[in-house]
Amino acid sequence: MKKLIIFSGSGISAESGISTFRDSGGLWEQYRIEDVATPRAWKNNPAMVQEFYNLRRKQIMECEPNNAHILIAQLESNYEVTVITQNIDDLHERAGSTNVLHLHGNIRQSKSSGPNKEKAYYPIDGWELQMTDLCPDGYVLRPHVVWFEEEVPMYEVAMQQIAEADILIVIGTSLQVYPAAGLINYAINAETRYLIDPNAEELNVPSSFRVIAKNAVEGMTELLQELG
Ligand code: APR
Repeated sequence: MKKLIIFSGSGISAESGISTFRDSGGLWEQYRIEDVATPRAWKNNPAMVQEFYNLRRKQIMECEPNNAHILIAQLESNYEVTVITQNIDDLHERAGSTNVLHLHGNIRQSKSSGPNKEKAYYPIDGWELQMTDLCPDGYVLRPHVVWFEEEVPMYEVAMQQIAEADILIVIGTSLQVYPAAGLINYAINAETRYLIDPNAEELNVPSSFRVIAKNAVEGMTELLQELG
């Protein structure tokens, strides 16, 4: 079977009702990154950061995968599929994808806020993580989310996966956040590369990509007819 990599961003979950970050009305228009998504934000006001992610988790748990997530899961019948997602939601998994790598973490899990934060991830029961919830080492549990200025622990693994891709599908990402966006340059063996994004014409996409300037659901439906 051919190896197919999906590289997804927040746009794939837009039609499930989860806002993107940088579109008009996106999350970073309502919140300042430095207030909620950096190590300093956690140091200065951990309760506010915890609350921000609790609300994100609650919203995500109330949403359902859309047809783009579902069509991607169905690709596993004909391809060896790896989903590399920048999203912290679990909609790819809930749609049935079995091989999902979360570059920026998974909001349904927590981790230690101490020095060994990548040692273990713990499933969160319900939507609320409390400041009194501690890891076995005694540190407050924080969301398993990679903040700005933090290392991306899964980057190397993602890079190796992308280098082996026969087909690459990039979907719903503005390709503005690094190092994640740089991953598409490692698809050195891919015979075909696609990009699905309604705003594709304004993104900085290499000419080797075939662009489908549509929403995720419509774009995936169209692409599937071609891929089979
Ligand atoms: N279908 C497909 N794509 C869509 C849709 C849709 N229905 N609606 C919007 N988009 C596209 C936008 O055109 C844009 O290119 O999704 C993209 C969203 O871009 P961003 O908001 O920048 O989100 P993303 O690329 O996922 O951000 C990367 O930034 O703050 C962080 O850590 C966060 O993982 C995130 C990273």
